[in-house]
Amino acid sequence: MSEYSVESMSAAIETAKEAAMSAIKNTADLSSLRALSAELNKKDSPLNSFKSEMGNLSSVDDKRAVGQLLNAATSEIAVALEDRSIEFADSEIAARIERESLDLTELLVSRRRGHSHIVTQATQRLEDVFIGLGFQIAEGPEVETDFYNFEALNMPKSHPARSEFDTMFLEYGETNSILLRTHTSPVQIRVMKSWKPPIYAIMPGRVFRRDTPDATHMPVFHQIEGLVIDRGITFAHLAGTIESFTKAFFGSEFTSRLRPSFFPFTEPSAEFDIRRADGEWIELGGCGMVHPNVLTSGGIDPEEFSGFAFGFGIDRMAKERHKVEDIREMYTNDLRFLRQF
Ligand code: PHE
Repeated sequence: MSEYSVESMSAAIETAKEAAMSAIKNTADLSSLRALSAELNKKDSPLNSFKSEMGNLSSVDDKRAVGQLLNAATSEIAVALEDRSIEFADSEIAARIERESLDLTELLVSRRRGHSHIVTQATQRLEDVFIGLGFQIAEGPEVETDFYNFEALNMPKSHPARSEFDTMFLEYGETNSILLRTHTSPVQIRVMKSWKPPIYAIMPGRVFRRDTPDATHMPVFHQIEGLVIDRGITFAHLAGTIESFTKAFFGSEFTSRLRPSFFPFTEPSAEFDIRRADGEWIELGGCGMVHPNVLTSGGIDPEEFSGFAFGFGIDRMAKERHKVEDIREMYTNDLRFLRQF
């Protein structure tokens, strides 16, 4: 009986393989793995030496059995070497990413953002609604001439209605010729002069009247003016526009009404009110058919075109909407008040 039996060689191969496998597992880095790999592939390495020893086996069957075992052990070791080297490569990449990465994030203490004043918010909502109804926005100067603020609006120098406006005049040019506009109606004339009919315009802006501030009045406030000039415009168009606006802006539960009134620049004239769901009427502004003299001042032929105009206060609407008790609060710039909305 030779000392080379299938059993003893198989056991030796298994032991050599286990030794190689645990050595692979224990390598600490790529270079020691490479050294180990060279060691295992050497001609006289334990596993390779079995190749020559195999010749000592007596039967072909024994040789084949040991040969297969040897091949299996060799390829198992080759796979383990490859796997281990991939592991090192991966952790090498991870370590490098870790080493070279930059933290580009920055901690910012969040800033408190401001918001528009409630009068600006109301103006923007009004503009949105009228743009939706097909209107365009126009603006005019806050410092006006007597011509645009009064004369062109059918209020000649002697007209008694002028005194109702509590005008603030500037000490500039001829006495009482330059003023802070008392309403946005002068922008009607400017639009008529620079646009061509059909005109569908709204004109928001700041206006001024000599008034002592109280809970419902300020010497500086805001109005929005509307002007429509086209062929065949009637009072029905005015009433319909006011009603559509009321529903679009305040909600479908609101309705509007017109009451006879007087303005020098419209004929006939009306005041318009809106009715809340609870039945209460709120006065909103003035309106009417544009007076023929006003069309003429604006360079428009009253025989060819007709139109209507309306104007109302924006501050009152913001006050109503946000349930502000005292309109003066809106202009004292107290952040505790402003931040509420
Ligand atoms: N301008 C008028 C006012 O300030 C309002 C108004 C505008 C009336 C347009 C009729 C037509 O009171």
